[in-house]
Amino acid sequence: MNQVVKKLSLTSVLLVLTLFCAFVCQAEAKKGLLVYDSIYSSTPEVAYWLKAIIGNELPLDVKKIDQVITVDPYDYVLIGSYSKWEKPSPRIYKFVETNKDKLATKQVCYFLTCGDWDETMILKVPGRPVHQIAGRNYLYEIMTQYPNIKPVVIGGFGGRQVMPALKGADAFMIWMLGKLAKEGAAWSGLDIWESLVPERVEVFGNEVRQKVLGLEPLADVQKFRGFWQSQQPGSLSDPNKQKYTVRPYTVHTETDKLFYSRFRITSDLDSTIKRISAWAQQNGVRLQEQRKTFFNSYYHAVKNIDGKDLTMHVVAAVMPDDPGAVHISLRSYDKPDARKPLEKAIGEAEQLLGAEGRKIDGR
Ligand SMILES: Cc1cc2nc3c(=O)[nH]c(=O)nc-3n(C[C@H](O)[C@H](O)[C@H](O)COP(=O)(O)O)c2cc1C
Repeated sequence: MNQVVKKLSLTSVLLVLTLFCAFVCQAEAKKGLLVYDSIYSSTPEVAYWLKAIIGNELPLDVKKIDQVITVDPYDYVLIGSYSKWEKPSPRIYKFVETNKDKLATKQVCYFLTCGDWDETMILKVPGRPVHQIAGRNYLYEIMTQYPNIKPVVIGGFGGRQVMPALKGADAFMIWMLGKLAKEGAAWSGLDIWESLVPERVEVFGNEVRQKVLGLEPLADVQKFRGFWQSQQPGSLSDPNKQKYTVRPYTVHTETDKLFYSRFRITSDLDSTIKRISAWAQQNGVRLQEQRKTFFNSYYHAVKNIDGKDLTMHVVAAVMPDDPGAVHISLRSYDKPDARKPLEKAIGEAEQLLGAEGRKIDGR
């Protein structure tokens, strides 16, 4: 009889302990909100993909921006948006403005879908100074505008554009952009154009797991790519056209308007910046830092030629999808005759940065 009582009480103690543990763990699980904005519905696909990576079993609400009335119940907030004209949506800006004080007290992460993910990109268009575009560069403004919100993780993933779905002015502007693009538009001739880099979504999701939730990263994270993949063709009129064309890491372009070299090396950002400084010194180039972030550095590299200052645009960037590598782009927008000494200097930068076997060939 005594034995039975003992066994029973041990079982009940264990049961109570298990229930208590379950209660405490439940109580302690951080509550998250993933709020996103989207026009053409590619961003919610990424939103639910991220929820799967972070953990479908965890308390993370995924909501379009017009479904959110408060951030009060949440410990952390993931803010996602499409990019339009080089920034997150106006509604995302408004959401951040309205909730800025509360967001400053929570863990926040930003992510973007976008057409261009290459964070070494520079854009020269009439009426605006030459400036950085693409991926996480589009978050620079909002992060500067709201410095008290210090994001734990940021991501710029690439995205999807479904041409027949584009409405009114969007359709016209994207068509115009395709016509004006000097280096050709990736979406020309396509009904669906995709640029998303799945590894970026996966790294972002795993960083949220680690840095926000203190969990292990998912090792088999690729199993969720089905959230993005679809069997639709890139073009209805030509089923052979690919929706996604791999963007090359190594590019060399010489036209009347542009001298452009892009390559990548095995290195880290700090060592690369030191080498860029050494190259500048050796070549009589003045290096003027334009912007520095944890993932890239942009310089004007100014060389005086026959009494005139000519500028090269130099960017070094690290990317979550290519760990251990630094991507570098150098550009001159001067005319071919004037830029000859710059072409030589760019060639030397490529040699110096890629020396001792650092240059990575291919792609
Ligand atoms: C009118 C318009 C402007 C855009 N502007 C940019 C831009 O400046 N930079 C960029 O990388 N992508 C740009 N995109 C691409 C979108 O950000 C991308 O296709 C995104 O996946 C769309 O998200 P959604 O389907 O959730 O609306 C633009 C798309 C449209 C339709």
